[in-house]
Amino acid sequence: MKILGISGSLRRDSYNTKLLRAAGELLPPHAELELWDGLKEIPPYDEDDDVEPAPPSVAALRDAVAEADAVLFATPEYNSSVPGQLKNAVDWVSRPLATNALRNKPVLVVGASSGAFGAVWSQAELRKILGATGARVVDAEVAVGHAPTRFDADGTLLDEDMRDQLGEAVHALLAETPAGYLALAV
Ligand SMILES: Cc1cc2nc3c(=O)[nH]c(=O)nc-3n(C[C@H](O)[C@H](O)[C@H](O)COP(=O)(O)O)c2cc1C
Repeated sequence: MKILGISGSLRRDSYNTKLLRAAGELLPPHAELELWDGLKEIPPYDEDDDVEPAPPSVAALRDAVAEADAVLFATPEYNSSVPGQLKNAVDWVSRPLATNALRNKPVLVVGASSGAFGAVWSQAELRKILGATGARVVDAEVAVGHAPTRFDADGTLLDEDMRDQLGEAVHALLAETPAGYLALAV
């Protein structure tokens, strides 16, 4: 089972990318996390450019989402909302609306920020945006506040409660996939 991990941060040492890696380590053996690293290459959305063939970076993202069993987003908060480049990427994937790659796709949103509240607002906004695309948004939240104190130099998530929360959220995501549902049913 393939989980596509999308970090909303372009920063080399991003806590959100570290959070995705931490989630990957909590997956059961039959699931693997593939980190998508093409966010910087996505052009600004322009309906005039949204034709076939799509810009290569956009086509690659749409394919990666379509091929994944589920998508795990980790988003920072920029001025109480989602980073613009992440919203822009979701806008590209959301078209054409009726058949877009996110439609009915199980998705989970988590987040980390340097502030106290762990990007709760941007996570809520991203859930709303993903809901508009028709994705199946898992009702779970992992908000890592004070992010610089929560990871060690190797990127390990130090807080055991946070790791437990992340593990539960990731398992809720897996349960939303057809394969995960069947695994739970037997
Ligand atoms: C443009 C900008 C706006 C920000 N706005 C917020 C904010 O509204 N709330 C918050 O908690 N942190 C805010 N931050 C701080 C981020 O939480 C912090 O930079 C975090 O480390 C970003 O995630 P990353 O480590 O994955 O890059 C902002 C940072 C930037 C660069």
